[in-house]
Amino acid sequence: MDARQLKVEAARAALAYVGSGMRLGIGTGTTAEEFVRLLAEKVATGLDVVGVPTSERTAALCRELGVPLSTLEDTPELDLTVDGADEVDPDLTLIKGGGGALLREKIVAAASERMIVIADKSKLVETLGRFPLPIEVNKFGLRATEIAIGAAAATLGLSGPVTLRMTGGQPFVTDGGHFILDASFGRIPDTRALSNALFAIPGVVEHGLFIGLASTAIIAGGDGIETVHA
Ligand code: 5RP
Repeated sequence: MDARQLKVEAARAALAYVGSGMRLGIGTGTTAEEFVRLLAEKVATGLDVVGVPTSERTAALCRELGVPLSTLEDTPELDLTVDGADEVDPDLTLIKGGGGALLREKIVAAASERMIVIADKSKLVETLGRFPLPIEVNKFGLRATEIAIGAAAATLGLSGPVTLRMTGGQPFVTDGGHFILDASFGRIPDTRALSNALFAIPGVVEHGLFIGLASTAIIAGGDGIETVHA
């Protein structure tokens, strides 16, 4: 099976948790998009759900495929969020934000009774940090925030480049109008301590460590589907 097929299989397994009447948080990224495609097929044959998308990109795909949408304003409590991840550790702590949607993804996940992460096996790690940690920051004071992030990491024995995410020669701008700094600190043994340290920096809007949010991970590998519960 190639990488795309693994994503499809993980998405298909997640669909089994979706029932009529559910209010769904719908994630962002290539794996979440496979879920949207399969969900749209079910909607076309009568599944009655409403989705709150975690990005403009996901919203556009849902509209194109006919998945009914709401907003978190109108539907502030959700039954289930299905989303991808950049890394998943054995406790189901995640790194997310590779697609730049971490802020809305975290808000939507936190508003959901349950979050299922779908991923191929390459995303499973013993310790998070191989994937650079996305940190969403206010545009104002970018350089000062960048320096503060490096200093905060150093207090935890972490170091490494913190780089402004670019796209097409311009800084990447999130749906919320912020920038993203990708922090290559390497292994993050204490995610809670790093989370607290980052939140103490005023210019940090959100970071991509998802702690205690995912209740289930559906991991697709060449040898089948593994379901992990937190
Ligand atoms: C977007 C995300 C994505 O879920 C994450 O980047 C995984 O994406 P993909 O399924 O394309 O590998 O966090 O902000």
